[in-house]
Amino acid sequence: MQHQRKKITIAVVQNQPEFGHPEKNRESVARQVLGRPDPSANLIVLPELFATGYQFDSPAEVADLAEPEDGPTFRFLSEISSKTGAVVVAGLPIKRDRGTANGALVVYGKKLLTSYDKIHLFDEERDFFLEGTRPLPVVETPFGPLGLMICFDWLFPEALRSLALSGALVVAHPSNWVLPFGPQGMILRSVENRVFTVTANRTGREERGGRAPLTFIGQSQIIGPRGDIIARAPSDSPALLVAEVEPEEALSKKVSSRSDFFEQRRPGLYTSLLD
Ligand code: ACM
Repeated sequence: MQHQRKKITIAVVQNQPEFGHPEKNRESVARQVLGRPDPSANLIVLPELFATGYQFDSPAEVADLAEPEDGPTFRFLSEISSKTGAVVVAGLPIKRDRGTANGALVVYGKKLLTSYDKIHLFDEERDFFLEGTRPLPVVETPFGPLGLMICFDWLFPEALRSLALSGALVVAHPSNWVLPFGPQGMILRSVENRVFTVTANRTGREERGGRAPLTFIGQSQIIGPRGDIIARAPSDSPALLVAEVEPEEALSKKVSSRSDFFEQRRPGLYTSLLD
């Protein structure tokens, strides 16, 4: 694919889904994304499980809301892509042979560029989802290599590092953050890998099956490769962030004339990482 060596427009959707109503939640996201006078963009990122809600009761309930990769959510993302010209990234429960993955799709026009099954499942997700077994993906797009990870993956530094080492300049990060330190933590992740990170989170509260309530912290954000907060959403209401960035800013890993922190890595000495 030919790279556009220029500024790109990124849109980040922060929504507040109603549990178990995927069609209604997709329609509400469509209004957010397409309601701008000019909805065109190069990259649009939606949250983890953006159309289903999060606090599942049982694996059977997850299976009921799960879709194949070419299901209604794929068709919805494809339509959003066609109407905006953007590469669209979103999280959803994906049907797999042995169960359901907490997955994400990257869609461009009518094409599925890649899918990903979350490899680090958070807390009760471990009761409901299969652990992903494929590496974190980096996919070619018209604006350069795009990496993908989901929510809790961020707390494993190896995840974003592996995406940056594979050449990602921009990393899409669909999330359902409940822990308070994600937004600040992602600033360091962006700096230590010199990449743009685009976190799409949700807001609202879920309290299902007599379990402890979950409050989703919003604060979707776009962070630059030097740690600048390019855009950040509020913690308690839906929002649409739109910003222009230049992905090539993430190409150089130099912090001084003689210090390139990718070239100077010493993987042979990080022996405990291999355990
Ligand atoms: C999370 O990984 N959804 C906290």
